[in-house]
Amino acid sequence: MKKKITVLPGDGIGPEVVQSAVNVLDTVADQFGHEFEYSYAKIGGVAIDEENSPLPSETVRVCKESDGILLGAVGGPKWDTLPGDMRPEKGLLGIRKELNLFANLRPVTAFDSLIEASTLRKEVVKGVDLMILRELTSGLYFGEPKERREENGEQVVVDTLYYKRSEIERIIKQAFELARVRRKKVTSVDKANVLESSRVWREVAEEVGKQYPDIELEHMLVDNAAMQLIRDPKQFDVLVTENMFGDILSDEASMLTGSLGMLPSASIGSTGPGLYEPVHGSAPDIAGQGKANPLATIASVAMMLKYSFGLSKEAEVVDKAVSTVLEQGYRTGDIAAEGETTLSTTEMTEKVIAAMTNQAKVTN
Ligand code: IPM
Ligand code: MG
Repeated sequence: MKKKITVLPGDGIGPEVVQSAVNVLDTVADQFGHEFEYSYAKIGGVAIDEENSPLPSETVRVCKESDGILLGAVGGPKWDTLPGDMRPEKGLLGIRKELNLFANLRPVTAFDSLIEASTLRKEVVKGVDLMILRELTSGLYFGEPKERREENGEQVVVDTLYYKRSEIERIIKQAFELARVRRKKVTSVDKANVLESSRVWREVAEEVGKQYPDIELEHMLVDNAAMQLIRDPKQFDVLVTENMFGDILSDEASMLTGSLGMLPSASIGSTGPGLYEPVHGSAPDIAGQGKANPLATIASVAMMLKYSFGLSKEAEVVDKAVSTVLEQGYRTGDIAAEGETTLSTTEMTEKVIAAMTNQAKVTN
Protein backbone atom coordinates (compact mmCIF):
# COMPACT_ATOMS: atom_id res chain seq x y z
CA MET A 1 0.00 0.00 0.00
CA LYS A 2 1.23 3.48 -0.91
CA LYS A 3 0.26 6.44 1.29
CA LYS A 4 1.09 10.12 1.41
CA ILE A 5 1.61 11.43 4.93
CA THR A 6 1.93 15.10 5.82
CA VAL A 7 4.17 15.68 8.81
CA LEU A 8 3.71 18.82 10.91
CA PRO A 9 6.39 18.71 13.65
CA GLY A 10 5.44 22.11 15.10
CA ASP A 11 6.99 23.44 18.32
CA GLY A 12 8.61 22.37 21.57
CA ILE A 13 8.97 18.61 21.85
CA GLY A 14 6.86 18.23 18.66
CA PRO A 15 9.81 17.61 16.30
CA GLU A 16 11.36 15.04 18.67
CA VAL A 17 8.26 12.90 19.17
CA VAL A 18 7.29 13.17 15.51
CA GLN A 19 10.70 11.84 14.47
CA SER A 20 10.09 8.83 16.72
CA ALA A 21 6.72 8.18 15.13
CA VAL A 22 8.15 8.47 11.61
CA ASN A 23 10.80 5.90 12.50
CA VAL A 24 8.05 3.60 13.69
CA LEU A 25 6.09 4.15 10.46
CA ASP A 26 9.22 3.33 8.46
CA THR A 27 9.51 0.09 10.40
CA VAL A 28 5.88 -0.74 9.60
CA ALA A 29 6.56 0.01 5.93
CA ASP A 30 9.57 -2.33 5.93
CA GLN A 31 7.80 -5.11 7.76
CA PHE A 32 4.62 -5.11 5.71
CA GLY A 33 5.87 -3.91 2.33
CA HIS A 34 4.08 -0.55 2.36
CA GLU A 35 5.37 2.72 1.03
CA PHE A 36 4.89 5.89 3.06
CA GLU A 37 5.87 9.16 1.43
CA TYR A 38 6.31 12.12 3.81
CA SER A 39 5.84 15.82 3.10
CA TYR A 40 6.90 18.19 5.85
CA ALA A 41 5.07 21.47 6.44
CA LYS A 42 5.02 24.23 9.04
CA ILE A 43 2.42 24.99 11.68
CA GLY A 44 2.31 26.94 14.95
CA GLY A 45 5.14 29.04 16.36
CA VAL A 46 7.72 27.89 13.85
CA ALA A 47 5.35 28.94 11.04
CA ILE A 48 4.83 32.34 12.68
CA ASP A 49 8.60 32.85 12.87
CA GLU A 50 9.30 31.75 9.32
CA GLU A 51 6.12 32.52 7.37
CA ASN A 52 4.43 35.11 9.55
CA SER A 53 1.32 32.95 9.92
CA PRO A 54 0.47 30.07 12.33
CA LEU A 55 -1.13 28.23 9.41
CA PRO A 56 0.41 29.10 6.02
CA SER A 57 -1.83 28.32 3.04
CA GLU A 58 0.86 26.02 1.67
CA THR A 59 0.46 23.85 4.79
CA VAL A 60 -3.29 23.56 4.27
CA ARG A 61 -2.72 22.63 0.62
CA VAL A 62 -0.19 19.90 1.43
CA CYS A 63 -2.47 18.51 4.18
CA LYS A 64 -5.46 18.35 1.85
CA GLU A 65 -3.46 16.36 -0.69
CA SER A 66 -2.38 13.69 1.76
CA ASP A 67 -3.90 10.49 3.09
CA GLY A 68 -3.05 11.19 6.72
CA ILE A 69 -1.49 13.94 8.83
CA LEU A 70 0.90 13.52 11.74
CA LEU A 71 1.23 16.49 14.07
CA GLY A 72 3.61 17.06 16.98
CA ALA A 73 2.52 20.03 19.04
CA VAL A 74 2.17 23.80 18.84
CA GLY A 75 2.85 26.67 21.20
CA GLY A 76 5.42 27.97 23.66
CA PRO A 77 6.23 30.95 25.88
CA LYS A 78 7.92 32.76 23.02
CA TRP A 79 4.55 33.36 21.32
CA ASP A 80 2.36 33.71 24.40
CA THR A 81 1.99 37.46 24.20
CA LEU A 82 0.90 37.60 20.56
CA PRO A 83 -2.72 38.57 19.83
CA GLY A 84 -5.28 35.70 19.59
CA ASP A 85 -5.18 35.46 15.81
CA MET A 86 -1.42 35.19 15.64
CA ARG A 87 -0.97 32.57 18.35
CA PRO A 88 0.45 29.14 17.46
CA GLU A 89 -2.75 27.50 18.77
CA LYS A 90 -4.64 29.30 16.02
CA GLY A 91 -2.74 27.11 13.54
CA LEU A 92 -3.99 23.93 15.16
CA LEU A 93 -7.57 25.21 15.48
CA GLY A 94 -7.36 26.39 11.87
CA ILE A 95 -6.28 23.07 10.41
CA ARG A 96 -8.99 21.23 12.39
CA LYS A 97 -11.59 23.62 10.98
CA GLU A 98 -10.18 23.70 7.41
CA LEU A 99 -10.31 19.92 7.17
CA ASN A 100 -13.62 19.66 9.02
CA LEU A 101 -12.14 17.26 11.59
CA PHE A 102 -15.16 17.31 13.86
CA ALA A 103 -14.56 14.06 15.73
CA ASN A 104 -11.66 13.89 18.15
CA LEU A 105 -11.02 10.41 19.54
CA ARG A 106 -8.97 10.25 22.71
CA PRO A 107 -8.68 6.69 23.98
CA VAL A 108 -7.66 6.32 27.61
CA THR A 109 -6.21 2.91 28.37
CA ALA A 110 -4.53 1.98 31.62
CA PHE A 111 -1.53 -0.30 31.06
CA ASP A 112 -1.15 -2.82 33.89
CA SER A 113 2.59 -2.29 33.89
CA LEU A 114 2.14 1.44 34.44
CA ILE A 115 -0.39 1.25 37.27
CA GLU A 116 2.20 2.54 39.72
CA ALA A 117 2.73 5.70 37.67
CA SER A 118 -0.81 6.94 38.30
CA THR A 119 -1.45 9.23 41.23
CA LEU A 120 -4.64 7.26 41.83
CA ARG A 121 -5.08 3.98 43.68
CA LYS A 122 -4.38 0.78 41.76
CA GLU A 123 -7.86 -0.68 42.13
CA VAL A 124 -9.39 2.52 40.70
CA VAL A 125 -7.19 2.56 37.61
CA LYS A 126 -6.61 -1.09 36.78
CA GLY A 127 -8.58 -2.07 33.69
CA VAL A 128 -9.62 1.44 32.63
CA ASP A 129 -10.50 1.48 28.94
CA LEU A 130 -12.56 4.43 27.82
CA MET A 131 -12.86 6.68 24.82
CA ILE A 132 -13.37 10.40 25.04
CA LEU A 133 -15.06 11.65 21.91
CA ARG A 134 -14.65 15.40 21.79
CA GLU A 135 -16.52 17.61 19.33
CA LEU A 136 -13.69 19.52 17.65
CA THR A 137 -14.84 22.12 15.15
CA SER A 138 -17.59 24.08 16.88
CA GLY A 139 -18.85 24.93 20.37
CA LEU A 140 -17.12 27.39 22.67
CA TYR A 141 -13.85 27.26 20.71
CA PHE A 142 -15.29 28.58 17.46
CA GLY A 143 -18.55 30.45 18.23
CA GLU A 144 -18.83 34.08 17.13
CA PRO A 145 -18.70 36.73 18.43
CA LYS A 146 -15.45 36.15 20.21
CA GLU A 147 -14.19 39.59 21.07
CA ARG A 148 -13.32 42.38 23.45
CA ARG A 149 -15.45 45.49 23.23
CA GLU A 150 -16.56 48.46 25.26
CA GLU A 151 -19.96 48.92 26.88
CA ASN A 152 -20.80 52.05 28.86
CA GLY A 153 -17.16 52.93 29.19
CA GLU A 154 -16.16 49.54 30.51
CA GLN A 155 -14.34 46.72 28.80
CA VAL A 156 -16.46 43.63 28.19
CA VAL A 157 -15.36 40.37 26.68
CA VAL A 158 -17.36 37.60 25.06
CA ASP A 159 -16.88 34.01 23.83
CA THR A 160 -19.83 32.20 22.30
CA LEU A 161 -20.99 28.62 22.69
CA TYR A 162 -22.64 27.97 19.33
CA TYR A 163 -23.88 24.73 17.80
CA LYS A 164 -25.86 23.79 14.75
CA ARG A 165 -28.16 20.85 15.36
CA SER A 166 -26.44 18.95 12.55
CA GLU A 167 -23.07 19.41 14.29
CA ILE A 168 -24.39 17.87 17.48
CA GLU A 169 -26.08 15.08 15.57
CA ARG A 170 -23.01 13.94 13.68
CA ILE A 171 -20.78 13.75 16.76
CA ILE A 172 -23.42 11.91 18.80
CA LYS A 173 -23.87 9.43 15.94
CA GLN A 174 -20.14 8.87 15.91
CA ALA A 175 -20.29 8.13 19.64
CA PHE A 176 -22.91 5.43 19.11
CA GLU A 177 -20.94 3.94 16.22
CA LEU A 178 -17.84 3.74 18.41
CA ALA A 179 -19.79 2.25 21.31
CA ARG A 180 -21.17 -0.43 19.02
CA VAL A 181 -17.71 -1.92 18.53
CA ARG A 182 -16.80 -1.42 22.19
CA ARG A 183 -18.85 -2.08 25.36
CA LYS A 184 -22.09 -0.54 24.06
CA LYS A 185 -22.46 2.38 26.43
CA VAL A 186 -22.53 6.10 25.63
CA THR A 187 -22.24 8.77 28.31
CA SER A 188 -23.25 12.13 26.92
CA VAL A 189 -21.68 14.88 29.01
CA ASP A 190 -23.24 18.33 29.20
CA LYS A 191 -24.27 21.15 31.52
CA ALA A 192 -27.99 20.94 30.84
CA ASN A 193 -28.91 22.40 34.23
CA VAL A 194 -27.44 25.74 33.12
CA LEU A 195 -26.70 25.93 29.38
CA GLU A 196 -29.32 26.09 26.63
CA SER A 197 -26.82 24.56 24.19
CA SER A 198 -26.56 21.57 26.54
CA ARG A 199 -30.33 21.17 26.71
CA VAL A 200 -30.45 20.86 22.92
CA TRP A 201 -27.39 18.57 23.03
CA ARG A 202 -29.32 16.29 25.40
CA GLU A 203 -32.44 16.30 23.18
CA VAL A 204 -30.37 15.37 20.16
CA ALA A 205 -28.59 12.60 22.08
CA GLU A 206 -31.99 11.14 23.05
CA GLU A 207 -33.21 11.33 19.47
CA VAL A 208 -30.12 9.74 17.93
CA GLY A 209 -30.14 7.15 20.70
CA LYS A 210 -33.47 5.83 19.43
CA GLN A 211 -31.68 4.63 16.31
CA TYR A 212 -29.33 2.58 18.48
CA PRO A 213 -31.57 0.49 20.76
CA ASP A 214 -28.69 -1.93 21.41
CA ILE A 215 -26.61 0.83 23.05
CA GLU A 216 -27.15 2.20 26.53
CA LEU A 217 -27.29 6.00 26.72
CA GLU A 218 -26.81 8.01 29.88
CA HIS A 219 -26.50 11.75 30.45
CA MET A 220 -24.07 13.24 32.93
CA LEU A 221 -23.41 16.82 33.97
CA VAL A 222 -19.84 17.84 33.24
CA ASP A 223 -18.94 18.71 36.83
CA ASN A 224 -20.15 15.31 37.96
CA ALA A 225 -18.30 13.66 35.06
CA ALA A 226 -15.05 15.30 36.19
CA MET A 227 -15.61 13.80 39.65
CA GLN A 228 -16.71 10.36 38.40
CA LEU A 229 -13.64 10.12 36.17
CA ILE A 230 -11.39 9.86 39.19
CA ARG A 231 -13.90 8.20 41.54
CA ASP A 232 -14.82 5.27 39.28
CA PRO A 233 -13.42 5.59 35.74
CA LYS A 234 -14.33 2.02 34.85
CA GLN A 235 -18.01 2.95 34.59
CA PHE A 236 -17.25 4.71 31.28
CA ASP A 237 -17.06 3.31 27.78
CA VAL A 238 -17.61 6.16 25.28
CA LEU A 239 -17.89 9.66 26.67
CA VAL A 240 -19.09 12.26 24.15
CA THR A 241 -19.00 15.98 24.76
CA GLU A 242 -18.66 19.59 23.66
CA ASN A 243 -15.29 20.89 22.44
CA MET A 244 -14.18 22.76 25.60
CA PHE A 245 -15.55 20.16 28.04
CA GLY A 246 -13.68 17.49 26.07
CA ASP A 247 -10.45 19.46 26.20
CA ILE A 248 -10.60 19.63 29.99
CA LEU A 249 -11.86 16.12 30.66
CA SER A 250 -9.24 14.54 28.40
CA ASP A 251 -6.33 16.11 30.29
CA GLU A 252 -7.91 14.92 33.51
CA ALA A 253 -8.45 11.42 32.12
CA SER A 254 -4.84 11.19 30.97
CA MET A 255 -3.75 10.84 34.58
CA LEU A 256 -5.59 7.53 34.72
CA THR A 257 -2.85 6.21 32.43
CA GLY A 258 -0.13 7.66 34.63
CA SER A 259 0.97 10.45 32.34
CA LEU A 260 -0.25 12.92 29.76
CA GLY A 261 2.70 11.55 27.78
CA MET A 262 0.71 8.39 27.11
CA LEU A 263 -2.41 9.77 25.43
CA PRO A 264 -2.79 9.55 21.62
CA SER A 265 -5.54 11.14 19.56
CA ALA A 266 -7.20 10.98 16.17
CA SER A 267 -9.18 13.82 14.62
CA ILE A 268 -11.40 12.77 11.78
CA GLY A 269 -14.05 14.20 9.48
CA SER A 270 -16.53 12.53 7.18
CA THR A 271 -14.19 12.71 4.19
CA GLY A 272 -10.54 13.60 3.60
CA PRO A 273 -7.43 12.86 5.66
CA GLY A 274 -7.46 12.46 9.42
CA LEU A 275 -5.02 14.20 11.75
CA TYR A 276 -3.13 12.30 14.42
CA GLU A 277 -1.39 13.91 17.37
CA PRO A 278 -0.41 13.27 20.97
CA VAL A 279 -2.65 15.03 23.48
CA HIS A 280 0.26 16.37 25.54
CA GLY A 281 1.23 19.56 23.76
CA SER A 282 4.62 21.18 23.25
CA ALA A 283 6.10 20.89 26.79
CA PRO A 284 8.57 23.79 26.32
CA ASP A 285 10.20 23.04 29.69
CA ILE A 286 11.78 19.84 28.33
CA ALA A 287 12.00 20.69 24.62
CA GLY A 288 15.25 19.86 22.83
CA GLN A 289 16.57 17.76 25.72
CA GLY A 290 15.64 14.32 24.41
CA LYS A 291 13.49 13.66 27.47
CA ALA A 292 10.04 13.57 25.88
CA ASN A 293 7.94 10.44 26.02
CA PRO A 294 7.34 9.41 22.38
CA LEU A 295 4.71 6.77 23.19
CA ALA A 296 1.63 9.00 22.75
CA THR A 297 2.79 9.99 19.26
CA ILE A 298 3.68 6.41 18.41
CA ALA A 299 0.22 5.31 19.57
CA SER A 300 -1.21 8.12 17.44
CA VAL A 301 0.35 6.70 14.27
CA ALA A 302 -1.14 3.34 15.24
CA MET A 303 -4.50 5.14 15.14
CA MET A 304 -3.59 6.55 11.72
CA LEU A 305 -2.83 3.06 10.43
CA LYS A 306 -6.14 1.80 11.74
CA TYR A 307 -8.57 4.65 11.05
CA SER A 308 -7.14 6.33 7.94
CA PHE A 309 -5.47 3.43 6.15
CA GLY A 310 -7.57 0.49 7.39
CA LEU A 311 -4.37 -1.31 8.41
CA SER A 312 -5.59 -2.92 11.63
CA LYS A 313 -2.95 -5.62 11.77
CA GLU A 314 -0.16 -3.07 11.43
CA ALA A 315 -1.78 -0.89 14.10
CA GLU A 316 -1.91 -3.85 16.43
CA VAL A 317 1.79 -4.53 15.98
CA VAL A 318 2.59 -0.95 17.00
CA ASP A 319 0.21 -0.98 19.97
CA LYS A 320 1.55 -4.31 21.13
CA ALA A 321 5.13 -3.04 20.89
CA VAL A 322 4.18 -0.11 23.13
CA SER A 323 2.75 -2.38 25.81
CA THR A 324 5.72 -4.73 25.48
CA VAL A 325 8.30 -2.03 26.21
CA LEU A 326 6.27 -0.95 29.23
CA GLU A 327 6.10 -4.54 30.46
CA GLN A 328 9.85 -4.81 29.94
CA GLY A 329 10.15 -1.91 32.37
CA TYR A 330 11.43 0.76 30.00
CA ARG A 331 10.48 4.26 31.16
CA THR A 332 10.86 7.86 30.12
CA GLY A 333 11.08 10.44 32.89
CA ASP A 334 7.36 11.21 33.05
CA ILE A 335 6.38 7.60 33.82
CA ALA A 336 9.37 6.48 35.86
CA ALA A 337 9.02 5.79 39.55
CA GLU A 338 11.61 7.25 41.89
CA GLY A 339 15.02 5.68 41.42
CA GLU A 340 14.07 3.98 38.12
CA THR A 341 16.41 4.35 35.16
CA THR A 342 14.97 6.61 32.48
CA LEU A 343 15.42 6.37 28.74
CA SER A 344 15.74 9.23 26.29
CA THR A 345 13.21 9.79 23.51
CA THR A 346 15.39 8.03 20.94
CA GLU A 347 16.27 5.14 23.27
CA MET A 348 12.60 4.53 24.00
CA THR A 349 11.84 4.62 20.27
CA GLU A 350 14.58 2.07 19.61
CA LYS A 351 13.01 -0.22 22.21
CA VAL A 352 9.63 0.04 20.50
CA ILE A 353 11.18 -0.74 17.12
CA ALA A 354 13.07 -3.68 18.63
CA ALA A 355 9.79 -5.00 20.05
CA MET A 356 8.18 -4.70 16.60
CA THR A 357 11.07 -6.57 15.01
CA ASN A 358 10.80 -9.29 17.64
CA GLN A 359 7.09 -9.73 17.01
CA ALA A 360 7.80 -10.15 13.30
CA LYS A 361 10.39 -12.85 14.08
CA VAL A 362 7.93 -14.73 16.27
CA THR A 363 5.15 -14.65 13.68
CA ASN A 364 7.37 -15.51 10.68
C1 IPM B 1 -5.64 19.98 22.83
C2 IPM B 1 -4.90 21.26 23.10
C3 IPM B 1 -5.41 22.33 22.13
C4 IPM B 1 -6.89 22.49 22.39
C5 IPM B 1 -4.68 23.68 22.21
C6 IPM B 1 -3.21 23.54 22.01
C7 IPM B 1 -5.28 24.69 21.27
O1 IPM B 1 -5.06 21.64 24.42
O2 IPM B 1 -5.55 19.48 21.69
O3 IPM B 1 -6.27 19.46 23.74
O4 IPM B 1 -7.29 23.22 23.29
O5 IPM B 1 -7.67 21.89 21.64
MG1 MG C 1 -6.03 20.20 25.63
